Amino acid sequence: MKRLLFVCLGNICRSPAADGIAKALVDHRNLDWQIDSAGTGGWHVGDPPDPRMVEAAAARGIDLSPLRARQAIARDFSDFDHVYAMDRSNLSNLRALQPADAHASLDLFLGDAEVPDPYYGGKDGFDHVLDLISARMETLFDHLTAT
Ligand code: 4NP
Repeated sequence: MKRLLFVCLGNICRSPAADGIAKALVDHRNLDWQIDSAGTGGWHVGDPPDPRMVEAAAARGIDLSPLRARQAIARDFSDFDHVYAMDRSNLSNLRALQPADAHASLDLFLGDAEVPDPYYGGKDGFDHVLDLISARMETLFDHLTAT
């Protein structure tokens, strides 16, 4: 069993997309892994994902509508095994939250690149985010399954 947490700024665009894509892959691969997402910021706590991301994900058969935003907390580093930040700003905010004796690993989701924030852009930005996350999620799951 593995527990994965995906984190962005608002938990309404990028990390809900990662959450939904990961849960679909968990189902597809018959895994017993736990998946969740959170934001480093608290502005959107309790909100459903951005309707533009809900629509873009639905077009790929992924339902994000049940998700609700929450803020990342220090305990996430013991409740999860792996925490993945969508961009370097999220990563530095998470480092500030991370307890000294943290159990969870903390990494950029793309390893050495960022998932761009689509919030202020157009529809293409949301599709691009879904492309980036879908491709990386497959290789991440392959890697985690082998370790
Ligand atoms: P996310 O996108 O971090 O991918 O959920 C954003 C959502 C909201 C805001 C910024 C980014 N905001 O400033 O409210």
